Amino acid sequence: MKHNIIVVISGDGSNLQAIIDKIHRTDYPAKITQIISNQKNAHGLQRAKNAKITTKYIKNDKLFEDNLQKIIDEDRPKLIVLAGFMRILNGDFVENNKGKIINIHPSLLPKYKGLNTHQRVINDKQKKHGATVHYVSNKLDSGKIISQVEIDILSGDTADTLKKRVLEQEHHLYPKTIQQLLEKL
Ligand code: GRF
Repeated sequence: MKHNIIVVISGDGSNLQAIIDKIHRTDYPAKITQIISNQKNAHGLQRAKNAKITTKYIKNDKLFEDNLQKIIDEDRPKLIVLAGFMRILNGDFVENNKGKIINIHPSLLPKYKGLNTHQRVINDKQKKHGATVHYVSNKLDSGKIISQVEIDILSGDTADTLKKRVLEQEHHLYPKTIQQLLEKL
């Protein structure tokens, strides 16, 4: 059975692409009803169009959450999947959609919340890095952890090489985690 999900982006949308690549499979339990962006020129919108999925640009102003809620009320998604979405959603919105909003973050949470995680782990001479899928709560990158992938930091790694290797892992982790969550419903 296919459950409705919506995906919310701001940028390149490579995680979105990884999800799109799965949804045509009959055994993948998700249908993307809409792809929403708060950035008009997000490359992810082009990916959505290429896949013939409905897109919507919602201006990144104080009405953003109200406008997104209207779409949620119509489409009734089982999951609201944030994928490279750069905005902190307001508390009322998060509360109204509790347990449904998930995000992927490029670090082994609870370590390295916030931005520039790849550079920060290198600066701190960490040995391990990775990515985490978590529920969105009222505190940034602090909701319940759902799944993680860990990689070794190599001696020659730069923020760029690390970002690339973490992203590759994100592209496996996110679609797989969405599948597992939906299969439990
Ligand atoms: C990823 O590193 C993700 O973990 C973070 O933002 C980046 C988004 O990349 N939240 P993309 O837009 O999916 O390519």
